[in-house]
Amino acid sequence: MDEKILEILKNSKNGYVSGEEFSKKLGITRAGIWKQMEGLRKIGYDIEAQPHLGYRLISAPDKLLAHEIKWNLKTRFVGQKIYSYETVGSTNNVAYRLAEEGADEGTVVVAERQTEGKGRIGRSWVSPKGGVYISLILRPNLMPTEVSKLTLVVAVSVARTIRDLTDSMALIKWPNDILIGANKVCGILTELKAEQDMTSFVILGIGINVNTKQASLPKNATSLLKESGDGHSKVDLTKRLLENIEAHYLLFTKNKFNDIIEEWKNLSAVLGRRVKVAEKTRTLEGQAVDVDEGGALVIRLDNGLNERVLAGDVILVR
Ligand code: BTN
Repeated sequence: MDEKILEILKNSKNGYVSGEEFSKKLGITRAGIWKQMEGLRKIGYDIEAQPHLGYRLISAPDKLLAHEIKWNLKTRFVGQKIYSYETVGSTNNVAYRLAEEGADEGTVVVAERQTEGKGRIGRSWVSPKGGVYISLILRPNLMPTEVSKLTLVVAVSVARTIRDLTDSMALIKWPNDILIGANKVCGILTELKAEQDMTSFVILGIGINVNTKQASLPKNATSLLKESGDGHSKVDLTKRLLENIEAHYLLFTKNKFNDIIEEWKNLSAVLGRRVKVAEKTRTLEGQAVDVDEGGALVIRLDNGLNERVLAGDVILVR
């Protein structure tokens, strides 16, 4: 019912919609409409009521509500189904369960806050209010070994979104950290379920520090609020991000991964820099010279030989 009321209010040409018109369209009494409006006000909608004119929507709250994100969302499938939470353990865990139950490709889980946010390599992801926490279900036709390419697809989409909507020159630290200056503003956690050589589904988890207070963030982390001194609409950012992800994912599925890599290189914080990469069993040091068509980081070691790295933690040395 909330969604229908909001749709009518948002579509109204002169702004006002009378109680009578609502009653007719929705088949409930005017007192019932009044009650619904009270409910919407409680969740942060500012709705004016004028005796002879009716109701008018003044503003919507900046909450990650499914129908706010879906309103005018220009995607075909990414975010067409959204599960929205105020507080959740981990959006990746919820998305994983939904995917196991057969959720469609493009299904999204969002939360205002996570109590057990997960980071890479078993770390936790600090997820206070003010951030945007999203997990997206994809069902690509990919070998499990190729899934890391999707992390690059998403990293490019996040950096692009931040640049589109703010003045911050977001850069990507291979493979999946988004930095502003030297500090991390977003992390991406890619999880998958695979059977033999087939990927059943991939969960792309994205955590962005949007309006997060600096005091609640770890050292070396920043937020869009801190970088620009202004708050940003989490709903607008989420919409633009979903649109950018779909556009880049469609390119990817049309065998245009090279275009993504080119964009990735233009947004890279590591290429040309001296780096140290900690892999599971070894640490490499040298100059980051390329990202190849497999999505691997290519490092020129001091002995002149190149090494490909598919997963690991990069430290920028100088
Ligand atoms: C990293 O370690 O850099 C990755 C962090 C990924 C955090 C996001 S927040 C949304 C999704 N749900 C989680 O529990 N983690 C990811």
